[in-house]
Amino acid sequence: MSRIVVVSNRVAVARDTGKTRARAGGLAVALEAALRESGGLWFGWSGETTQNRHRAPKVTTSGQVSYATLDLTRAERAEYYNGFANQTLWPLFHYRMDLTAYERGQEKGYIGVNRFFARHLAKLLRRDDLVWVHDFHLLPMGQELRRLGAPYPIGFFLHTPFPPPEILLTLPNHEAIVRSLFAYDLAGFQTPDDLRSFHEYVTREVGGEVRRNSTVSAFGRTIRAQAFPISIDTGEFAEMAESEPAKREYERTRASMRGHKLILGVDRLDYSKGLHEKFLAFERFLERRAESRGKVVLMQVAPPSRGDVAQYREIREDLEQLTGHINGRFSEPDWVPIRYLNRSFQRANLAGLYRASRVALVTPFRDGMNLVAKEFVAAQLPEEPAVLVVSRFAGAARELSDALVVNPYDTDGVADAIHRALNMRRKERIERWSSMMSVLENNDLTAWRRGYVRALRRTARTA
Ligand code: UDP
Ligand code: G6P
Repeated sequence: MSRIVVVSNRVAVARDTGKTRARAGGLAVALEAALRESGGLWFGWSGETTQNRHRAPKVTTSGQVSYATLDLTRAERAEYYNGFANQTLWPLFHYRMDLTAYERGQEKGYIGVNRFFARHLAKLLRRDDLVWVHDFHLLPMGQELRRLGAPYPIGFFLHTPFPPPEILLTLPNHEAIVRSLFAYDLAGFQTPDDLRSFHEYVTREVGGEVRRNSTVSAFGRTIRAQAFPISIDTGEFAEMAESEPAKREYERTRASMRGHKLILGVDRLDYSKGLHEKFLAFERFLERRAESRGKVVLMQVAPPSRGDVAQYREIREDLEQLTGHINGRFSEPDWVPIRYLNRSFQRANLAGLYRASRVALVTPFRDGMNLVAKEFVAAQLPEEPAVLVVSRFAGAARELSDALVVNPYDTDGVADAIHRALNMRRKERIERWSSMMSVLENNDLTAWRRGYVRALRRTARTA
């Protein structure tokens, strides 16, 4: 069977058991598990910068998996990662035209890094490899590999949402972005809504054709495009919730709550996660439900992210202020309503926090999937499950429709959902949880990866 080669910006190198893993976010967590099972090569950025312009990949091997990483120069990091990826594509793909900056120079740097990666990757590839490129950092990777003569099947999976044409059209080079997807054999999206946005762009803007067999033609090429909602390793996560670190975190948290009910949020400090409005909704809940004051705590875990980008520094300041305002307004000598933790946790410890909570509040304005929502469900005790409140704009809400699904723009609506979740009877909690858990058992990470890889193997390049 052919080797799988995963290409992504972040690589959770096996020997790195510390910071990289904790920082890595949903993508790296998912891919690491996938590669460990099938073996292969994982290629991407080391996360480091260097002064050296003459660079070669650092290769390490662990079991069946090799890792090859490249350093970037400071200028490359600024233009590619902080620039076009995180200041142009990320906000735009999360429907935030107001936060989207566009600089031609950064776009050039972005393409340059993709070309640089492709040149080094091509030297490591074998003829029968299956190449799987991930996320918005590497959209042009397929094109660059084809330019170097790559004959193998190449697939792409977008972990973020794909915006509707009305939004994408605001990007000066929108056509180049969509054209780059046509260098792949398979373009994968998180949800049918994202796929529909892609279809709409192709048919409306470039006169392409969408067929019923999942193929799409445009720019003189035909590719497959499908939705593959990413998931978690449900069984493994449920076991993790029983592990020692999880139990310790559970005990520590429960003891510190002294009988208060815990509402939990776990989100990278990112404007797409709707944190400001989540805090406002909690404040509204405290205003309107005076009887809950002194009885409920919101614990928000918010690891800092992309701190070189101004908007990320601003949101950090903003949340510190807002937390101070709400705590100042409602605190009592023996009770503080919001515990705000600006740090990351190992996933096993998170599993303990998930289990120690009565409610999870996952309220992004836009999210490709949101693995936290899925992990929260998987970590629950079957006989005493907590309640998930999830934004309708998270990809996960489609599958987890038995959660309390909310509109994060509706402060009163979220405040009502908090109240309802805190007071939900056990019978209803169990019914909702069982139904969500069986969805997660049927579509776990292995099913996701197998589904994608099977579809990619089937695609012969038609262009
Ligand atoms: N995560 C973690 N430690 C933390 C916070 C999050 O390991 O302190 C993990 C979390 O368990 C999940 C991932 O990071 O697997 C976040 O994925 P999600 O899809 O929710 O959001 P993203 O950060 O990718 O936008
Ligand atoms: C999201 C993106 C990933 C990214 C992660 C963490 O999940 O889809 O590609 O790795 O956030 O962000 P960072 O910029 O720290 O890699």
